[in-house]
Amino acid sequence: MAAPGQSSQSATDQPEKLYLPQMTTYPDEGTVGQAAADLVAEKLRLKPASVLLLPTGRTPLPMYARLVARWRAERPDLSPVQTFNLDEFYGLPPDHPGSYRTYMRRVLFDHLPVPSDNYHLLNGAAADPTEECRAYEAKIEAAGGVDLAVLGIGANGHIGFNEPGSTLASRTRLVTIEPTTRAANAFLFDQRLDAVPQTALTVGIATILASRQVLLLVTGPSKAVALTHLLTGPVSPDFPASFLRLHPQVTILADREASSS
Ligand code: PGA
Repeated sequence: MAAPGQSSQSATDQPEKLYLPQMTTYPDEGTVGQAAADLVAEKLRLKPASVLLLPTGRTPLPMYARLVARWRAERPDLSPVQTFNLDEFYGLPPDHPGSYRTYMRRVLFDHLPVPSDNYHLLNGAAADPTEECRAYEAKIEAAGGVDLAVLGIGANGHIGFNEPGSTLASRTRLVTIEPTTRAANAFLFDQRLDAVPQTALTVGIATILASRQVLLLVTGPSKAVALTHLLTGPVSPDFPASFLRLHPQVTILADREASSS
């Protein structure tokens, strides 16, 4: 029984096998981006037909910029790679300027010879979101499952749009976006918070954890508390990124500001 003042969640409530992610700290977001790009490029060199699960947001921008520079110089054959994005706003047409499809085209796909059939995003304009999510899971499975998932983390512990409350068993689904997360995305909508959709489609925690390898990028002082929570806090739906400690192959690349809590 918990002593007064202690959490009622004892150590025995925790899943039995937790792993310590392998973490490396870099001076700044640029060097994190370089290291992430190197890791992704090496993955594709070893397995050209890799299946990648990709993030959006501010954190991965340096990684995408370096991947574009590298692949434009090296010109590898990118036609065997398949990419899936983690999430998409719901209620936006795919070509909306604020959509994650538009983001991905702007930062990566429009700069590289990746056939458009090879990159996949959830359709935020799908009339039947349940069917859209089911079909997306089936497409990932048909591609052979995810080799490498690249993730960012929200200050509230979300991964993808798996906000607090998301369960370990969650799969791709329609979710409500938290107000703080909507604010963090206002940069895609000319800083107009009211223009940021209230809902999104996201791959689930179970979908992410089924990936063979996970790469988590954490940069900036606003993520320091979240990183500490991920590494040392309880594994719980209250902080969905904590579920990454159930995965044996997680690499964290963090900058100094995010590692300083
Ligand atoms: P950010 O978002 O990179 O814009 O901070 C990360 C996330 O929400 O996963």
